[in-house]
Order: sequence, then C-alpha cells, then structure tokens
Amino acid sequence: MSMLVLYASKHGSTQGIAERIAVTLTAAGQRVAVRPVQDAGAIDGYDAFVIGSAVYMGHWLKPAAEFVASHRELLATRPVWLFSSGPLGTEPTDAEGKDLREASEPKETAELLAAVHPRQHRGFFGALDPSSLTLPEKALRRLPAARAIMPAGDFRDWADIEQWAKDIAEELTTGTAGEAAR
Ligand SMILES: Cc1cc2nc3c(=O)[nH]c(=O)nc-3n(C[C@H](O)[C@H](O)[C@H](O)COP(=O)(O)O)c2cc1C
Repeated sequence: MSMLVLYASKHGSTQGIAERIAVTLTAAGQRVAVRPVQDAGAIDGYDAFVIGSAVYMGHWLKPAAEFVASHRELLATRPVWLFSSGPLGTEPTDAEGKDLREASEPKETAELLAAVHPRQHRGFFGALDPSSLTLPEKALRRLPAARAIMPAGDFRDWADIEQWAKDIAEELTTGTAGEAAR
C-alpha cells in the first residue's frame, strides 16, 4: 500500500505525531510519505491516507479542513484515518468525567466524517511550549478560564500514537480497510 500522511501544525507537535505515525507505518511494511497538508501535491496515486490537525479554539486548522473539503470525492473512495491533536494535561477526563480526547473534538467533526467517511477519527493529547506562542496566544493563556486547560508541557502519548498506527497497518494488511466504515 502507498500511504500519504498529511498534517496541519502551528507549533510543531502535530507534525511530530504525524511523523511518528509515518515511521510506525513504515516499520509495519507500508510505503509512506509524510508532509504538511499545504504541500500535499497530487494525491490520486495514494491508496490510503492519514490526515491530522491541531485543534485551536475548537477548530481544525484551516488548511486541513479545506484540504478534506476540496478532496472529499477522492478521499471518500479510499481508506482514510483522521486525527486531532488537542487536549493538554495529564488528566484523562474533564470535570464531567468525559474522555478529554472526545471532549476536545473539533467543531467540524461531523462535517469531516460526512465528507470522507474515515475508518476512524482519533484524538491525541498535544503539547504546548509557552516560549513558542504568539503574543495573542500568550494573552489568551493568561485568562483565568484558559489557564487550567492550557498547561505547558508535552503530553503526547507516544505508545498510544504508535499503537494507533500499528492498528492502521494491520487493518490495511488484512484487507478490511477497503470497506467504508460509514
Ligand atoms: C491559543 C491556543 C488555543 C488552543 N485551543 C485548543 C482547543 O480549542 N482544543 C484543544 O483540544 N486544544 C487546544 N489547544 C491546544 C493545542 O491544540 C495543542 O497545544 C496542540 O498540540 C498544538 O499543536 P501544534 O503544536 O501542532 O500547533 C490550544 C492551544 C493554544 C496555544
């Protein structure tokens, strides 16, 4: 299988997740290219796709959302896995006990699922390096409401990320990935 892993990342942590997914898929025997979604180029030669974006203010980054929308016809005919990189911190659940990775789903989730019928949409914990933030981001982070949900640190769960990529490779190898999930 020839796979393309695409990502939209503002400060680099989603890029890191995409690269780890690509390395894991390659180790599992897939032919994999990984690049920013803005540099996707011609995509019709690929058999399967993994597309991910960081979540900011409840939304996927625009280039990723636009890419999925504008390539929806081709993507809907191939196995696609989506991921979002968002929640921060070491708590797995929010105040109401909901899995944080689900609570942080981007607002366009329903739209993304309807557009390309992905095999799965997974949320991963992200990372925040305060020194890399823009001035408006720093100001936002100082707000009392933001402080608790935007701790500094690298919360990416590499074992979780690698397991997800291994599951994708397994699904492609056993041939079940060709069937649309929805
Ligand atoms: C200004 C700002 C807004 C954010 N908004 C959200 C959000 O709405 N939901 C969420 O889950 N994570 C949010 N995050 C956390 C980021 O998604 C997380 O840090 C992610 O790993 C960043 O990815 P990147 O380094 O690839 O840009 C926000 C972070 C910043 C700095």
